[in-house]
Amino acid sequence: MPLSFTSFAIVGAGTIGRPIAQSLSTKGVSVVVLSHSEGKSVDGIKTVVVNTSDVNAVSKALKDHKVEVVISTLGQAGIIAVQSIIAEGSRAAGVKLFVPSEWGMPTHGYTNGLFKVKVDQLAYIQSLGLATVVIYVGYFMGTVRSPTAFDINGKVNIVGNIAATGSFTAESDAASFTAHILTTLPPYQLANKVFRIEGQHGSMIDVATALKTTVVKDLLLERAVLDGTKPEGLRVGDRLLLGVLTTSGPGTFGRHWQRESA
Ligand SMILES: NC(=O)c1ccc[n+]([C@@H]2O[C@H](COP(=O)([O-])OP(=O)(O)OC[C@H]3O[C@@H](n4cnc5c(N)ncnc54)[C@H](OP(=O)(O)O)[C@@H]3O)[C@@H](O)[C@H]2O)c1
Repeated sequence: MPLSFTSFAIVGAGTIGRPIAQSLSTKGVSVVVLSHSEGKSVDGIKTVVVNTSDVNAVSKALKDHKVEVVISTLGQAGIIAVQSIIAEGSRAAGVKLFVPSEWGMPTHGYTNGLFKVKVDQLAYIQSLGLATVVIYVGYFMGTVRSPTAFDINGKVNIVGNIAATGSFTAESDAASFTAHILTTLPPYQLANKVFRIEGQHGSMIDVATALKTTVVKDLLLERAVLDGTKPEGLRVGDRLLLGVLTTSGPGTFGRHWQRESA
């Protein structure tokens, strides 16, 4: 049994995949990015274009590069479309550890939406006999504007308890943490474990301060979001739901969803 893993594949190289690939590449280990499209590359890191809908193609690419650890950083559409196929290809290739695309708040216990998809994916990947590592990082600092609907009206739009707090981590810190644990811990300390990193703990008021704006607690908006409707003329997306989670408690990853709802 090796002391730690030395060969990694990252599936997807977007908001979180790119910095993880870059962090791993500084660790003196083998790193390859599996991409489904030409032209997507991370400087200095080998990119392999593969049909991620084809188990055999995925398996071959992983075997060719003697990959021990697969790190999925797929976004929502990719998770739904191909993450289970990539897990099947990983098992066929003899991959030792699979990191499913979580990279946010704890999803355990959720029964609907993307979080439920992530819960089901984890169960499926483990049912294949693959060891997993789940990494929760809270909200990405770099994209926090979106869940607060900042881009709609230049304010941090609050729904729920204005004083409640959440967990925020810079993408670069989440990536460094991921690269560190995956390249230093022995396999038995990673297999089927859950890790959590929190860069900063704060309220939506802190978020507004960081964005140099103010908080708006809009009752019309609140009712619309909680009812699942949209007020006329206001483009409220699903993303605001994350603001609801933060302000109602479960956005703090130190808390557990099941405890929240108990
Ligand atoms: N904590 C937070 O605040 C936060 C915020 C956003 C996301 N997240 C979570 O972080 C994870 C990754 O999200 P992200 O924002 O980093 O995603 P992203 O920026 O959209 O990147 C996704 C990557 O997956 C690739 N991809 C998509 N479909 C694929 C397929 N069929 N085969 C292979 N690659 C495919 C994309 O390539 P192309 O561009 O070529 O399609 C892209 O490189 C998700 O679990 C998401 O829920 C967390």
